[in-house]
Amino acid sequence: MRVRSLAYLRLGSPDVDAWRVFAGDFLGLMPVDGGNSDAAYFRMDDFPARLVVEPSAEAAATAIGFEVMDRRELAALAEAVSAHGIEVVAGTPEECVERQVTGFVRFADPGGNPIELAYGPILQHDPVQTPNVSGFVTGGLGLGHVIVSAEDGEAQYDFYTGVLGFVERNTMAGGRVVFMGCNPRHHTLGINTRRGPGRLMHLMLEVATLDDVGRGLDRAHRLKIPMMHTLGKHTNDRMVSFYVYSPENYAIEYGWDGLLVEDEVPTYEISAGAFWGHRFTPPPER
Ligand SMILES: [Fe+2]
Repeated sequence: MRVRSLAYLRLGSPDVDAWRVFAGDFLGLMPVDGGNSDAAYFRMDDFPARLVVEPSAEAAATAIGFEVMDRRELAALAEAVSAHGIEVVAGTPEECVERQVTGFVRFADPGGNPIELAYGPILQHDPVQTPNVSGFVTGGLGLGHVIVSAEDGEAQYDFYTGVLGFVERNTMAGGRVVFMGCNPRHHTLGINTRRGPGRLMHLMLEVATLDDVGRGLDRAHRLKIPMMHTLGKHTNDRMVSFYVYSPENYAIEYGWDGLLVEDEVPTYEISAGAFWGHRFTPPPER
């Protein structure tokens, strides 16, 4: 009984139009219609919109959605989360329609991050159109990966490994950052222990070819998307990628050829984030 993959991400933003450029023109996702005409919806594959950006005074993730197997596993996981002392709320039929899933529950993780567990996505059978990208690596590996913060890293770790069934893959910065998997993608979730309320820090999308990364880099330059890390190769998931700052300065990684971990492998600490590259530029003033 465990989470299977990262299914979707819902953000609130004071500047949805900036996200239409960022996610549509730069990332190369497919803009689609959704239930709220003021929000922006983006498909990556045959899933309903995996990224949704709704207008909001405050910039924040409003839902980090993980896919679970089916109705029975959702019920069992919801029960386990509840037994861990976390209040779980079932999604309403209207909210299921908005997310295009058959059922879901929501709760705040021990760091305060808004988490949803969902099953039964309502698939889209017209082919996804991503003219700037040959394809996104999704399927059973899910949308990509996210890193969230938590004040109490231990509580966060215990919850994700002990209740949601994630496996620790590696650590960094003396254990302050933990990378965890729930499918062969090296990591689906990272926990960064730091002061303050939990928040979304990072999102990674994986594209099918190195040329997709290179063309993404060209679009970033053309659209003046601020660069965060130059092209480089990670030491943990071996991904070749670059990072940019999204509207509201989330660290967005655009990468290729991430490591697949098929078996349980002992955990390890990395002493550098990259074999080469990934030179850092601080965030722009916004
Ligand atoms: Fe990453």
